[in-house]
Amino acid sequence: MQIAGSVAIVTGSNRGVGRELVEALLERGAATVYAAARTPATLEPVIALDPQRVIPVELDLTRGALIDAAAGVASDVTLVINNAAIAQFVPGLDAPRQSILDELMTNTMGTFDMVRAFTPVVEGNGGGAIVNVMSLQSFAGSLGMDGYSASKAATHSLTQSLRPALAARGIVLSGVYPGGIDTDMLKGIDAPKSSPMTVATGILDGVEAGQDDIFPDPVARFLGGIFQADPKRYEYLFANTPQLVAALEEARGSGDLVM
Ligand SMILES: NC(=O)c1ccc[n+]([C@@H]2O[C@H](COP(=O)([O-])OP(=O)(O)OC[C@H]3O[C@@H](n4cnc5c(N)ncnc54)[C@H](OP(=O)(O)O)[C@@H]3O)[C@@H](O)[C@H]2O)c1
Repeated sequence: MQIAGSVAIVTGSNRGVGRELVEALLERGAATVYAAARTPATLEPVIALDPQRVIPVELDLTRGALIDAAAGVASDVTLVINNAAIAQFVPGLDAPRQSILDELMTNTMGTFDMVRAFTPVVEGNGGGAIVNVMSLQSFAGSLGMDGYSASKAATHSLTQSLRPALAARGIVLSGVYPGGIDTDMLKGIDAPKSSPMTVATGILDGVEAGQDDIFPDPVARFLGGIFQADPKRYEYLFANTPQLVAALEEARGSGDLVM
């Protein structure tokens, strides 16, 4: 779909990738961008990007009533970007059960509720796209991020199973699988990271190309290639972070990965 002239909503748009998505949507000529955040007061710098075109919306993925209310307010959207998520770095066997449930409720169920609430809206506006931002961890569990990986894998499965139903309603349902990004989520973790604007640009390029699966940055494309060629190698790399980081450094050294 064309971004120019579209009406978009972005969850988690107050910081990180979400904020850059709002900026990139404005640059590409979106008519309106609903900037959703659970604390609207944090959206002031985002509204300042273009007060005429950026409309703040209160939206917490764990509160269904707010999602439904947002679908009522943003009733003209043609592009929905489900970007918001949480990540808790607690190894699974030691993780409090609640911590894994929180990741599933926010990342998986929150995204699912968004898709359900906005499908009739986008369909009613003549079709468009819904984009679920996930992770390379949708394809393999990562040590120390067990609940996060599980939530992104479940969201990946829902994205695949819902895709035909949305296509029948004129909506492209895209999945996004980024590598490490230089945002608060990965603060203090030593790994190759792309800038949030690189990722936002890659996401919108994929949306404009109508892609089902969007690998928006160089690490995503490199590791996505390993997943497609050798899923077992991919699984073992993600289960062993030092090996994963070493493989990325080796690829950078050899020129196979250019960041
Ligand atoms: N950073 C990475 O390395 C990386 C890698 C692969 C994929 N991703 C994915 O990329 C997306 C963006 O991540 P990011 O790096 O930009 O993360 P981030 O900097 O941690 O920002 C997360 C955003 O999600 C919002 N959020 C959290 N819980 C929410 C809830 N219950 N309801 C509504 N909003 C909520 C946060 O709002 P508050 O400010 O209110 O907390 C914030 O705006 C996520 O889906 C993430 O899983 C990130």
